[in-house]
Amino acid sequence: MAVNDKYITLNDGKIIPQLALGTWNNVDFENTINSVYEAIKIGYRHIDTAAIYKNEEEVGKGIKKAIDEGIVKREDLFVTTKLWGTQQRLSQQAIKQSLERLGLDYVDLYLIHWPVALKSRTIDPSDPKNYLCIPMKPDEPSVRDIDINWTFVDTYLTLQHLQKEGLTKSIGVSNFSINNLKELFKHPLFKVKPVVNQVEVHPLFPQDELIEFCNSENIVIEAYSPLGSTDSPILTNETLVSIAKKLNIDVAQVCISWGLKRGYVILPKSSKVDRIRRNFEDLVELSEEDFKAVSNLKQQYGEKRFVIPDFSPFKVFE
Ligand code: A2P
Repeated sequence: MAVNDKYITLNDGKIIPQLALGTWNNVDFENTINSVYEAIKIGYRHIDTAAIYKNEEEVGKGIKKAIDEGIVKREDLFVTTKLWGTQQRLSQQAIKQSLERLGLDYVDLYLIHWPVALKSRTIDPSDPKNYLCIPMKPDEPSVRDIDINWTFVDTYLTLQHLQKEGLTKSIGVSNFSINNLKELFKHPLFKVKPVVNQVEVHPLFPQDELIEFCNSENIVIEAYSPLGSTDSPILTNETLVSIAKKLNIDVAQVCISWGLKRGYVILPKSSKVDRIRRNFEDLVELSEEDFKAVSNLKQQYGEKRFVIPDFSPFKVFE
């Protein structure tokens, strides 16, 4: 089996392609249609988006083009989208709006994007896209308008219904800490375990403790920002550059190969088709020596989390 062609079985019995195309921050939206279409042509079967990326329409068009041309059938693809904070009290409305934008009847996976609800009191509900924002407090315009009276547990319980309705095949979470997961598990109405927890993971932020906990609960980790996000210092790291040179691949593919070998789902993103291709085709089975060298980067350079939004008073990651 090729390195890029592996599937993982989720705790609900569904299977998920281990390598996905991430689509966040794909600022040129027209380009997103082509990126998604070309990715599917290259062989990607897993596309990851979110309502707040504001690109669901373009992702959907890329998927449609590939299906219309007979490159894949819908059932060959695994499509994930995510519930944004302003609609945590309105998850059924939110997923239906996402499906409409994507042009799909169902998604394969629906995630709570962050374990924090945002207030929608300043949002004009007449246009669904108005919900795709970060609302600020009316009296403190520099402070995010957090909905402290609605918890991620409340939201998760509603996701269990969305799955029953067939709007999504599987449900999961994103940016959940071990404590968040433990709090969710102890609610009396909690019945369906999240299949994944999508979090930041890369060589400078390997998340060993969270991965160990999720493994013990049979929850698959999905690694976002596996290359260290935009303008990543990882891509110029001298240890990684020397391994990449030796293997005649990019540093990005060293990072992706490392993530694949660690056994979780990995979601590298790129807006450039040649990189999307190389990130799929030029992957390798890393030797133990190279694998260890990448795993040791944290000791050498210190741990570095790149995505740190301020949702105070809610303490994310704790
Ligand atoms: P670009 O869209 O210009 O290709 P991630 O968030 O997945 O860690 O990605 C971080 C950034 O790495 C992306 O914004 C992407 O920018 C860039 N990138 C993706 N693939 C490669 C590659 N093969 N070589 C260099 N940079 C890459």
